[in-house]
Amino acid sequence: PSIKPWGGRFTEATDQFVERFTASVSFDQRLYHHDINGSLAHAAMLEKVGVLSAEELAQIQQGLEEIRGEIERGEFEWSVSLEDVHMNIEAKLTEKIGITGKKLHTGRSRNDQVATDIRLYLRDEIGSITKELSRLQQGLVDLAKREADTIMPGFTHLQTAQPVSFGHHMLAWNEMLERDFGRLQDCLQRLNQCPLGAAALAGTTYPIDRHYSASLLGFDRPTENSLDSVSDRDFAIEFSAAGALLMTHLSRFSEELVLWTSAQFNFINLPDRFCTGSSIMPQKKNPDVPELIRGKVGRVNGHLFSLLTLMKSQPLAYNKDNQEDKEPLFDVIDTLKDCLKAYADMMPAITVNVEVTREAAMRGFSTATDLADYLVRKGLPFRDAHEVVGKSVGFGVAEGRDLSEMTLEELRGFSDIIEADVFEVLTLEGSVNARNHIGGTAPVQVRAAAERAQVRLSNR
Ligand code: ARG
Repeated sequence: PSIKPWGGRFTEATDQFVERFTASVSFDQRLYHHDINGSLAHAAMLEKVGVLSAEELAQIQQGLEEIRGEIERGEFEWSVSLEDVHMNIEAKLTEKIGITGKKLHTGRSRNDQVATDIRLYLRDEIGSITKELSRLQQGLVDLAKREADTIMPGFTHLQTAQPVSFGHHMLAWNEMLERDFGRLQDCLQRLNQCPLGAAALAGTTYPIDRHYSASLLGFDRPTENSLDSVSDRDFAIEFSAAGALLMTHLSRFSEELVLWTSAQFNFINLPDRFCTGSSIMPQKKNPDVPELIRGKVGRVNGHLFSLLTLMKSQPLAYNKDNQEDKEPLFDVIDTLKDCLKAYADMMPAITVNVEVTREAAMRGFSTATDLADYLVRKGLPFRDAHEVVGKSVGFGVAEGRDLSEMTLEELRGFSDIIEADVFEVLTLEGSVNARNHIGGTAPVQVRAAAERAQVRLSNR
């Protein structure tokens, strides 16, 4: 018998380099658990329709479970000449149970097998990823509640704009992640169809029951078209696109954390355990974790483009090109899990320097818009009010004083409709409290928004 499971029509051995070049076992062995589950479902289906006997099914089940144990204990010897995870496991099964092992592949091809394995694997991994994502979101919601009354400068163009609640800022991040969660759920729902039975490309002549194997594996239904089943990798692209967007969000959070931990901002402290030092500068405490996450977006974006390019122009149905789907996909998964874990651990541990954030909001004339709104309420057209406040700010810049630190006489020098009640709107608290509507930064709204976010999280 030939060494290769497909060696029947060949008259010479595979070139050694070609063997190594075409093999995927070094990276696809991580699919072993799902490959075995897929084989168990396929075998059970074959028994149900009478292609395998009950005795044969039992042998296959026992053999595959033994193999699973060997792999898990690190005893399994992977062979490059057996190319991939599928043929390694199948060859081992035959070695263990003899002729019955050779029957497992009846009515199946590696093409529908691998398409099934990746879906099963990705389905589980999306589960782990969304779990970590939820843990991070919970941390943000808790932080938002804790810091609802903490005032910081809100920015546009990275210049101080208006005071906002620190909790409000955390909830902005949470909204981005909420949409990421939705995208992952969406992807999960679309990929949850079972390709088994598509065989190589055209289906199979055996009286298979595709609904049965699909339901054994927890799929919603069998896939609709055999050609599409073995060639479709949209789900991997869709997942990676959702991942790239999620990483883009983490990169934005990271950029802010890096800024906020700098001596110049000093808004927050990151505990030592999330930082590293410098080998030459003894004073350094670097925010390596957010920096590294900011950098890892590059690799995920790259993988998304690898997958899009891999699929571009591929004719139907299966092509060996598709073996190249795994390394990018696996690395997107690993990267997302690591980055989300780091964030979920880190966010609850940050502390806010509330005096510093408050002072920063004071120093940037962040209540200037409030003064303009005040003048409008007293009857001045908004553009004129804008002008009045602009001049007041110019005076403040020259004097080194905030609007709230000027005297009533000084302010009235710019507009005599200003009265003593102006000082209520010039305070930071007055400013944030005034934005009291859904989606606004008033602490009472921040608490309500955190409550709604909590309900969404708890209902997952
Ligand atoms: N290792 C292959 C892959 O990852 C499995 C499918 C191979 N099928 C084939 N006809 N060569 O895509």
